[in-house]
Amino acid sequence: MPLFVVTTRLPDSALELLRAEGELRAADVSAVLPRAELLELVAGADVVVTQLGDRVDDELLDAAGPGLRCVCNVAVGFNNIDLEAAARRGVAVTNTPGVLDDATADITLGLILATTRRLGEGERLIRSGRPWHWSMDFLLGRGLRDKLLGVIGLGAIGGRVADRARAFGMRVAYRNRNPAPAELVERLGAERLELDELLGRADVLTLHTPLTEQTRHLIGARELGLMKPTATLINTARGPVVDEAALVKALRDGEIAAAGLDVFEHEPEVHPGLLELENVVLIPHLGSATVETRTAMAELAARNAIAAARGEPLPTPVELS
Ligand code: DGY
Repeated sequence: MPLFVVTTRLPDSALELLRAEGELRAADVSAVLPRAELLELVAGADVVVTQLGDRVDDELLDAAGPGLRCVCNVAVGFNNIDLEAAARRGVAVTNTPGVLDDATADITLGLILATTRRLGEGERLIRSGRPWHWSMDFLLGRGLRDKLLGVIGLGAIGGRVADRARAFGMRVAYRNRNPAPAELVERLGAERLELDELLGRADVLTLHTPLTEQTRHLIGARELGLMKPTATLINTARGPVVDEAALVKALRDGEIAAAGLDVFEHEPEVHPGLLELENVVLIPHLGSATVETRTAMAELAARNAIAAARGEPLPTPVELS
């Protein structure tokens, strides 16, 4: 019987799938397990189901032992996993693409609206108890119709964001390392631009790139300096894609108008400078946080785990590029 080790609390439906298939050792905590507990938990596993806060490296793979066949991350991102270390041991890795595209696109639109229409400022004002009244120039934001959405990473999630933005009357341009799917580009009427031109033209710039050594600090002081003073930056991808200190400076100096962040460079810590600024909306990594999506993610991870234990093709493997 295979041993499935699950490092975080998962919905029952996913645990049931695993229980029906093998032995289950599951942590009943939603926080990231302290390292020593994590290493102890995974010992002897055939498959480990991880969350994005678990660092999967040589140490963890060794702690799991030679029987380990697969690491199934309950996330589409897999920057917490050392793919080469896994490959060296013949350990497969899977993630959960697809099932969180709509939820993440929805929250991206939420941040676009919250920043361009200054919802955070309005909410904080009401809660402060300070007096206010309607007037012609009170808390004016900017509309979306005919504005340009710049998408960095027009893939599954970026495409859903762009679809939604089109419904708000926005135009779409993008920058990808590889060409985006032709059908998507055609449906969106999207223009492919080089990074600097996209930065200079976008009214709303939204990031949907994975975190890699190439994308770390993709948006730094130089890039922010190229953006329009009226532009908004949205990040629902990974925090380190943006140089947070440079972003604080750009927001403070009016180099860009606003930012909406779901992810942070040193998550869960947030740069103290961001906390002082009115023109930024901050939410705690909620992109996929709906009951339906988290259930689908957990079930997909469980299906990957079962396939790995049976030696069957993995539904959503991560390829070492
Ligand atoms: C992921 O799946 O990578 C997300 O960041 C979790 O919401």
